[in-house]
Amino acid sequence: MAPTLSEGYEINTSPPSVQDYLALRQSSPTLTPINPSQAEAALHGSWHTIHITHQSDPSHAVAMGRIIGDGGWFFSIGDIVVLPSHQRKGLGDFIMSTLMEEIKKRAPKGAPGAYVMLFAAPGARGLYARYGFRDTMPGNMGMAQWLEKD
Ligand SMILES: CC(C)(COP(=O)(O)OP(=O)(O)OC[C@H]1O[C@@H](n2cnc3c(N)ncnc32)[C@H](O)[C@@H]1OP(=O)(O)O)[C@@H](O)C(=O)NCCC(=O)NCCS
Repeated sequence: MAPTLSEGYEINTSPPSVQDYLALRQSSPTLTPINPSQAEAALHGSWHTIHITHQSDPSHAVAMGRIIGDGGWFFSIGDIVVLPSHQRKGLGDFIMSTLMEEIKKRAPKGAPGAYVMLFAAPGARGLYARYGFRDTMPGNMGMAQWLEKD
């Protein structure tokens, strides 16, 4: 059964503000801080972004998630972040459910289906496993680098 939002929270099918996006990433010691121009480009270039607000301060995001994708078959889920004071209330679960439903709804039908990937921070593996994500090893190993720019 699809999760529901706890009382007082509202889902917004739009990106958070750049400032809120930066603040959400800064709230987690596991996420690398990014700069405002990166944030602006990231939000603008995403395939689908959602954020959650709380009735105590409806103009600021307390959680977000986004999908980067080609709209055809290749999708990457990223920036699933919940402010520490709003964690363990099911928001992460709700965001994952909402993003997965969006891909199922909008990705073209037919075999072989959509390939959905993500990087899991240590505390988030259980959440992602519940949505069907599995370690790609030993078949394929994920590889990445930070490309430094002046
Ligand atoms: C990972 C993260 C997104 C999870 O968000 P969250 O809103 O706390 O997630 P949920 O509440 O849906 O679930 C988290 C846990 O709380 C539990 N939970 C859910 N509702 C709860 C409630 N009402 N009371 C107590 N526990 C609850 C869940 O069972 C889950 O337990 P588990 O991790 O042992 O499986 C959040 O911790 C976060 O933002 N971390 C920092 C950024 C980060 O690492 N993001 C992931 C990048 S890959």
